[in-house]
Amino acid sequence: MSDWQLPLWQSLLPIGRSDETRGYRRFSFTAADSACREWFSQEAKKRGLRVETDRNSNLWAWWDPSDQPAPAGAEQRLGAIVTGSHLDSVPDGGPFDGPLGLVSAFVAIDLLAGAGRVPARPVGVVAFSEEEGARFGVACLGSRLLTGAVTRDAARALTDADGVSLAEAMTASGLDPATIGPDSERLSGIDAFIELHIEQGSALDGMGAAVGVAESIWPHGRWRIEFTGRGDHAGTTKLGDRHDPMLPYAATVLAARTVATELGALATFGKVVAVPGAANAVSSAVHAWLDARASDEETLKELVSQVTAVAKLSGTSHGVSVTSQCDSLSPIVEFDRDLRDRVVTALARRGIAAPVLPTGAGHDAGVLASGLPTAMLFVRNPSGTSHSPAEHAEPEDCEAGIVALAAVLEELACR
Ligand code: GLV
Ligand code: MN
Ligand code: MN
Repeated sequence: MSDWQLPLWQSLLPIGRSDETRGYRRFSFTAADSACREWFSQEAKKRGLRVETDRNSNLWAWWDPSDQPAPAGAEQRLGAIVTGSHLDSVPDGGPFDGPLGLVSAFVAIDLLAGAGRVPARPVGVVAFSEEEGARFGVACLGSRLLTGAVTRDAARALTDADGVSLAEAMTASGLDPATIGPDSERLSGIDAFIELHIEQGSALDGMGAAVGVAESIWPHGRWRIEFTGRGDHAGTTKLGDRHDPMLPYAATVLAARTVATELGALATFGKVVAVPGAANAVSSAVHAWLDARASDEETLKELVSQVTAVAKLSGTSHGVSVTSQCDSLSPIVEFDRDLRDRVVTALARRGIAAPVLPTGAGHDAGVLASGLPTAMLFVRNPSGTSHSPAEHAEPEDCEAGIVALAAVLEELACR
């Protein structure tokens, strides 16, 4: 890493990293999450930025114009330009998914301030809460709460794998769950949001570009499929007498692959829980999560409908009941055309050729796009690997991302 970024990475990289896998386990409202939040607050304070936590536990740091002092009380900032990403991770995630956007934001501000640039309007850095949905199941929970894409009641009812509710988890980490919910006042004070993220594919590498600009996000979602059979003894229950939920589950996994291939879509079962989970027992239930993504909403619907039809049909033939419920659904996102053009032009003016590309990965920028102009910068990922400890970006490409983000913030917010 370059000297610009090194101190930020040095203090962040050890937080929540597993000694066994070297992957990150930064789940929301845990000790690792609190340490990441503390890192954010310290980095913001070092730069003289004002830090606040919103009602939905998203963390904000503000670089305010000297002639527009920080609002006191309920008064809102107006015309803000905000950048940021998230600090939570998937189980055994890589170092860059999320944090790269925050390290880059702080260092971009350093570059601008070092060059004598000052904000003409408020510049915000935000770390959204529970972006991966790794603990409570709903992707981009913090930004969904902020925009109202998930209701307060639905969020309050969420529980983690141990039955701990969102409200309990927030309270345990010193946050107040009583006031979660849509925050239109805060959103109306933001003119644009720019998220910088590691590319979660290798398209930029193929194009020989260090930095790219997002065009769109595929529609995608998560469905929880529950197969309920009958627990039994593995050594004494005849095969023909079993109601084994593992069999329709297995048929569903294979069908998901076949249907996704046929439709040119993506389907993944990355999380499965066998209940009660005994090696010498037929399971009484299998809980599985289907992650489905496609280039358009019709295809996504078709994919999920065909996969769940196989689950039900196969369940019937094994005497297993099957239910399916959507945990989160993200419609197609076409990023704001004017903002995107402005970003591409600002980069070109500085000699940065940034191709425009679509992605299948979800982001808070995609959620915010429903209410305000948003754009994304991607940083080259040579192998394309992400959601894995092997995720990697070269230091010079991270630097190129910082320079690009600084250029965009300068264009949109500085004088
Ligand atoms: C987030 O990274 C997602 O695409 O699930
Ligand atoms: Mn991710
Ligand atoms: Mn991410």
